Amino acid sequence: MRRPGGGPRPAYDHGRLNVDGGRPVDLSAHADLAVADLEVADLHPAVGDPALNSMNFLNEVAQRYPDAVSLAAGRPYEEFFDVADLHRHLETFRAHLADDLGYGPAQVHRALFQYGRTKGIIHDLVARNLAVDEEITVDPESIVVTVGCQEAMLLVLRALRAGPADVLLAVAPTYVGLTGAARLVDLPVRPVAGGPAGIDLADLRAQVRRARAEGLRPRACYVMPDFANPSGASIGLADRRRLLDLAAAEDLLLIEDNPYGLFHADGAGRVPTLKALDTGRRVVYLGSFAKTVLPGARVGYLVADQRVRDADGTVGPLADQLAKIKSMVTVNTSAIAQAVVGGALLAHGCSLVAANTRERAAYARNLRHLVDGLARRFPDPSPVRWNVPAGGFFAVVSVPFPVDDALLRRSAEDYGVLWTPMAHFYDDTAPVAALRLSISAVTPAQIDTGLDRLAALIADELARSPVPAARG
Ligand SMILES: Cc1ncc(COP(=O)(O)O)c(C=O)c1O
Repeated sequence: MRRPGGGPRPAYDHGRLNVDGGRPVDLSAHADLAVADLEVADLHPAVGDPALNSMNFLNEVAQRYPDAVSLAAGRPYEEFFDVADLHRHLETFRAHLADDLGYGPAQVHRALFQYGRTKGIIHDLVARNLAVDEEITVDPESIVVTVGCQEAMLLVLRALRAGPADVLLAVAPTYVGLTGAARLVDLPVRPVAGGPAGIDLADLRAQVRRARAEGLRPRACYVMPDFANPSGASIGLADRRRLLDLAAAEDLLLIEDNPYGLFHADGAGRVPTLKALDTGRRVVYLGSFAKTVLPGARVGYLVADQRVRDADGTVGPLADQLAKIKSMVTVNTSAIAQAVVGGALLAHGCSLVAANTRERAAYARNLRHLVDGLARRFPDPSPVRWNVPAGGFFAVVSVPFPVDDALLRRSAEDYGVLWTPMAHFYDDTAPVAALRLSISAVTPAQIDTGLDRLAALIADELARSPVPAARG
């Protein structure tokens, strides 16, 4: 099959390789592949939705321009990874099963090699981690260990979407993985204004009431109170309390997603999570070990301690209902992956704050380096603006021209720098005049190179003819 428009196959397109008797066969040689067997319009609408293309598009650009400096990836820094740690953590967890929990050899084998408990096997350790690092006290039975935080989102949204009147509210700009998961379960997402304070509480109240006035049922509001992806914004303590009060007054659940909370950069200390402040079981808490242990394990979790009355009248945690869904999605989270994460937790007294001393210092240094570098390259007065997050992996740069995928491609091809168009985090097609920069997977020297290249791109764009204003 010829590529539409001909031309060389881009580096990221690996062709359609199949295996024939052990030999790879290039299926693109088969002309009949040009004939479609199915139309995308006949598949679930989410498949054709931009939200589901977003991550693939960004990955494709990154793979096509491997030499470009990437200020796009929200991955953890790779130089700290060590294969020996995987073996060590596995052994630490095995020893924990045998020595702390008293498992005999057969039980150890079963725990590590077999299908396992749907809600996971490191729930006690996760609960200890939450107590040690976050002062969150939860019954381990309220925890479901998931295949990344992404699965946790999907399980929660699947459960909350009971009927066509249900909608989700989400602080905008929104992590695209949340929008995509909502699409998969046919749950419309309505934006709530974020702004520098992390959430506009008046807008949240207005959105809840507007939805209800339209006969809709807002099931929850998705928030990232600490160093949000993509905005970098955080919600202050007073607003966290007000948000919980508002959720109680409006009878609304909050879904708190917290992958970056450990990585504060300003030395001011951490603000309690919503879940730590939650006395009324309003908050479903989502956790990820991707940034704090390793993303390759694909382990995350949810805390859902809301009480649910089952059809037979028994009452149990929402986690039990979510586990039913999980049993039909991923059966259980890999025991090996959980063991590696469990070992990493045990190695540091269940404190990820302690486990990430080096990482926290490196990310804080990089974030300072980024904002200082922006200030040097765009001195006042400049039409280029950026926020100064108190931590996390991301900052947002606003420019006086729309920032789209075509500009990203040009940035990669002609300037050698990658970043993320903020348009990917809005659920509409309005132009967005902003881009997200990430500091997590680069060195200060790479940040300098990336910013020099970005500054050259921005200077060239500013020198072009005036462009219509767009959302910043
Ligand atoms: C806000 C947010 N939530 C969830 C995730 C997904 O986490 P996981 O890798 O554990 O699935 C990410 C990943 O970047 C994220 O930024």
